[in-house]
Amino acid sequence: MEKLWAGDLHGRLDAAADDFNASIRVDARMAGEDIAGSLAHSAMLAARGILSREDAAAIAEGLGGIAEDLSCGRLSIDDASEDIHTFIERELTRRIGDAGRRLHTARSRNDQVALDLRLYLRRECEALRDGIHTLIGTLCSKAEAHADTIMPGYTHLQRAQPVTFGHHLMAYAMMLLRDSARISECAARMNVSPLGCCALAGTTFDIDRELAAETLGMNGVCQNSLDGVGDRDFCLELAADLSILMMHLSRFSEEIILWCSWEFGFVSLSDAYSTGSSIMPQKKNPDIAELIRGKTGRVYGDLMGLLTTLKGLPLAYNKDLQEDKEAIFDAVDTAKACLSMMAPMVETLTVHRENMRRAAAGGFINATDCADYLAGRGMPFRSAYRIAGDLVAKCIAEGRTLETLTLSEYQAASELFGEDIFEAIRLENCVNRRRSRGGAAPERVKEQIAWVRERI
Ligand code: ARG
Repeated sequence: MEKLWAGDLHGRLDAAADDFNASIRVDARMAGEDIAGSLAHSAMLAARGILSREDAAAIAEGLGGIAEDLSCGRLSIDDASEDIHTFIERELTRRIGDAGRRLHTARSRNDQVALDLRLYLRRECEALRDGIHTLIGTLCSKAEAHADTIMPGYTHLQRAQPVTFGHHLMAYAMMLLRDSARISECAARMNVSPLGCCALAGTTFDIDRELAAETLGMNGVCQNSLDGVGDRDFCLELAADLSILMMHLSRFSEEIILWCSWEFGFVSLSDAYSTGSSIMPQKKNPDIAELIRGKTGRVYGDLMGLLTTLKGLPLAYNKDLQEDKEAIFDAVDTAKACLSMMAPMVETLTVHRENMRRAAAGGFINATDCADYLAGRGMPFRSAYRIAGDLVAKCIAEGRTLETLTLSEYQAASELFGEDIFEAIRLENCVNRRRSRGGAAPERVKEQIAWVRERI
């Protein structure tokens, strides 16, 4: 097929090299953005008198027809074109003749592709935010239902202090809210137009870059033409934001996987989000959560690939940049798919309160409260810590718990202990009294839920 760049300089490209050079299989998904960019460009050219009104009208009608035919399947994108820009320009020219061949005035595929990608990712950022907010909504509802479901809180994966399942879930809601904010900021930064940077140096035509940007709902124009066509930091930034998002989803997945093991038994996944084993009839496997954890590596790989592709490039455009799309599309697709699995998986999981409560009752997770009790009665915390530690050691040696020590055993350790020590170390009280802002007390967890809901 004839190239856009076919001229006297070029002989025929080898068929395999042609295939190697093509990006249509990857960039076809930007057809809508390519058409929108061309519409804005030709309207601007007409407004500046660079293109006749008639040509611009023919281009607008032709592009509109292509968009419609693509969306209803009357027209399909064939792999014979080098890229989506070539395909659409060729199809336009086939439909409207010479006017189509005027569209590329004061434009290069270099600013065209940079624009298409920004427009495409801008929209994907919206979809990502929707996905994140849906998941946050699910977390809030689940947290509300479990604002007082006691579970052990861990440090070093050792039982540490009691928290509630709601409190634990809201930690992830906070992380996801920051992920959403990062993606919004990234979308705003990428939403400036490279159109008019042309191949690298701008153009001799008297164009109005701001007008085209405004038509496309963008916040302004790239201020340096080499930068506009030569950088892909907006892809890097989004891939980095998605890597952080995936890291959060992966940590959450890891916990879900642990929690539904027989060792923990804190939750069960719905059959809709777990699978069986082909050999072991008793197995119920958390494949979906494991895949989310596994796909995190892919997204990190996309980020690394992009960083590596860009690091040695001289300004401005180099064909290496064509590799940007496969990586960033994969990162976006993967993150969206994971978000869409995570929300219903969390929504449908069953919480085993009794198992959580039982786990919280072992492991002396109220030892801090025992020390706090003494510190609250005037003993320096360091001394209180020591006494509580000795009591725990005694319990371990005798196979008992802090709840089963007698008052006289407590008083033998310190005269400050009174009958109310037993209330002070009761798990419900340990949680209810952690009323510091952001703490585990159910009322504080409900505050967190309200705070997050106001922001989604
Ligand atoms: N398919 C190309 C890409 O994705 C479009 C830009 C081509 N520009 C060029 N000078 N060959 O980067």
